[in-house]
Amino acid sequence: MSHEISEPELDPAFVFDFQAYDDLADGQRWSTWLSVEPLCRGPQPRPDWVVTSQAAVDTDLGILKTGKEGDVFLLERAVPDDPSRRSVLAAKRYRDNDHRQFHRDSGYVEGRRIRKSREARAAAKGTTFGRSVQAVEWANHEFAALSTLWSAGVPVPYPVQIDGTEILMEFIDVDGTAAPRLAQVRPDRATVESYFEQVREAMAVLARRHIAHGDLSPYNILAQGDRIVIIDLPQVIDIVSNHNGVEFLLRDCRNVCSWFTSRGLEVDADELLAELLAQAW
Ligand SMILES: Nc1ncnc2c1ncn2[C@@H]1O[C@H](COP(=O)(O)OP(=O)(O)O)[C@@H](O)[C@H]1O
Ligand SMILES: [Mg+2]
Repeated sequence: MSHEISEPELDPAFVFDFQAYDDLADGQRWSTWLSVEPLCRGPQPRPDWVVTSQAAVDTDLGILKTGKEGDVFLLERAVPDDPSRRSVLAAKRYRDNDHRQFHRDSGYVEGRRIRKSREARAAAKGTTFGRSVQAVEWANHEFAALSTLWSAGVPVPYPVQIDGTEILMEFIDVDGTAAPRLAQVRPDRATVESYFEQVREAMAVLARRHIAHGDLSPYNILAQGDRIVIIDLPQVIDIVSNHNGVEFLLRDCRNVCSWFTSRGLEVDADELLAELLAQAW
């Protein structure tokens, strides 16, 4: 009888990955595309710029904007040495610690349920665990809204994937720099008119689906040349099941209309609300 102990077999793929991992610099990770569940990836048909390769590396390019609930970073997802497989994404990371503020949580969560009761109780109590549950909930809610609205043809960034509190989405840029918010631009008359038509049409599509953005303002609308892109959707609300729904919709109408009025367009928030409600019912 032999007492020889055989060498453990080394998986060549593992050895290869391990060595490659050593080569990643600070601020880099392997693309998380394949490690998230298929349902955590964006809707089909997927734009051709989405990088799905197993060989892709994610590189943090720095912070774009800090916010109350989280921060938005620039992230490159690319296959090293293959310029045809390079994408730049916006990574919105919700903060799941004590520093996050919760002004959004009060009215919006009505009509939404957190399924697991332990999580629901923790969220209600505002414990640290509860806050991280809330951060994941907000991220999920925003990802779902982006997916639905992108598929409905609403101008929103394409949602690439969600991984816990991190959403990766299309980076809305003008010549490589982040597109300005509506609040920061002074377009000519024809562009202002066209922007209003685009915002009104987007709000109408939402209304027909019985939803309101819930935080629509010139800070959450980006101006990308001729087009507008609506962002920041963790608090979209169902205007039927939420009994403050119409008030949230009216506030969205007022925020939007006051910007257009300040840019010389004669628009009225009550008229816009009436038109949207007519679309909804
Ligand atoms: N997909 C994107 N492309 C370009 N800029 C973005 C994108 N998403 C967010 N930003 C920038 O980051 C800012 C904050 O993002 P937002 O989703 O509005 O979060 P919050 O207002 O809750 O911090 C935006 O005002 C915008 O300037
Ligand atoms: Mg915002």
